[in-house]
Amino acid sequence: MPDDRHGHATPSSLSRDTATSPAAGALILGIETSCDETAAAVVGRDASGRPVILSNVVLSQIAEHAAFGGVVPEIAARAHVEAVDGIVRAALIEAKLGFADLSAVAATVGPGLVGGLLVGAMTGKACAAACGLPFLGVNHLEGHALTPRLTDGLAYPYLLLLVSGGHSQIVLVRGLGDYERWGTTIDDALGEAFDKTAKLLQLPHPGGPNVETRAAAGDPKRFPLPRPLKGEARLDFSFSGLKTALRLAAEAAAPLSAQDVADLCASFQAAAAESLADRVRRALARFRETFPGLADPVLAVAGGVAANKAIRAALEAEAEGAGVRLVAPPLKLCTDNAAMIAYAGLERFEAGRTDALDTPVRSRWPLDETAQPLVGFGRRGAKA
Ligand code: KG4
Ligand code: ZN
Repeated sequence: MPDDRHGHATPSSLSRDTATSPAAGALILGIETSCDETAAAVVGRDASGRPVILSNVVLSQIAEHAAFGGVVPEIAARAHVEAVDGIVRAALIEAKLGFADLSAVAATVGPGLVGGLLVGAMTGKACAAACGLPFLGVNHLEGHALTPRLTDGLAYPYLLLLVSGGHSQIVLVRGLGDYERWGTTIDDALGEAFDKTAKLLQLPHPGGPNVETRAAAGDPKRFPLPRPLKGEARLDFSFSGLKTALRLAAEAAAPLSAQDVADLCASFQAAAAESLADRVRRALARFRETFPGLADPVLAVAGGVAANKAIRAALEAEAEGAGVRLVAPPLKLCTDNAAMIAYAGLERFEAGRTDALDTPVRSRWPLDETAQPLVGFGRRGAKA
């Protein structure tokens, strides 16, 4: 184990994967600490220009937060401080590189929990200053947005659906640093709604996977839950009314048997998937209209909720109906990781967009800075 001095790393919480092809050109160390994963990775390009992940180390803090049913910012920041040096070292060892081999250091500087962001940003800046390397302050959401270029070599433009614990957004990715937000949630993020549903039904944190498992044995039609914003022209999302409707249904059916819980999970998941699919259908129609001549139109998904099979199936059906290819990066690169931060750093480095060492961290940092915040937007702001 690269860093088990503090008891944080366990075989199940520490995941790594290594590329086999050697890198040519720039080599970027990426550091991610915006929420509850301490992560470091090295990314470069092979001789043909394809991105290569030379190391990707992720230490999850799920165990530290489990007892609290959610991420506790102070616990997260302390755990990052204790782990980050070892995780950076592990990423370099796995990549078989030293600091002297690097071209630049990238770290997430927002959005996210400020304590965690400070730990990662200061670590990245310290490494850059000590080694005389350029620093790149990366937007975590840009990391998610560019992941399909890292994994599938997508060309700009493409449509991105980001569905995570902190965000539900439809974003047009036009180019590096050039994003147009087409839709966002007006209240809860979809992952947050899954997590709250799980908590209400007394399923363990994180809720999404547990709701999905229970839903497999349930009847999605038993509880008639609302499909928020279905049919509306705007491309935004809303999940808090669905969550309330689920709570009322659960209260009415109490005391809950295992079958009741399964039926509630299945009904919630079906409503969430249908609401999401409706928004995505409209977004895809707009995308096709905006870029009628695009040779390979793509809908890319990112964020932990994209792991949900019912949601994945609904998205596949919508993409197929619109004549668009669905690109879903492997799950370990859809959820929070540092390879995506190193890759966003690589694109920025190649474009000459390095940052000063006094770059501040930002708890809020929308991808599209021109988009107006909606009512309740960013209320939680803990996860991105
Ligand atoms: O992208 P992610 O790992 O972290 C950030 O939020 O940035 O996403 C985590 C979210 C959590 O809310 C989790 O419950 C949800 O993704 N999630 C799922 C599933 N797996 C993870 N939601 C529904 N179904 C799943 N299988
Ligand atoms: Zn994220």
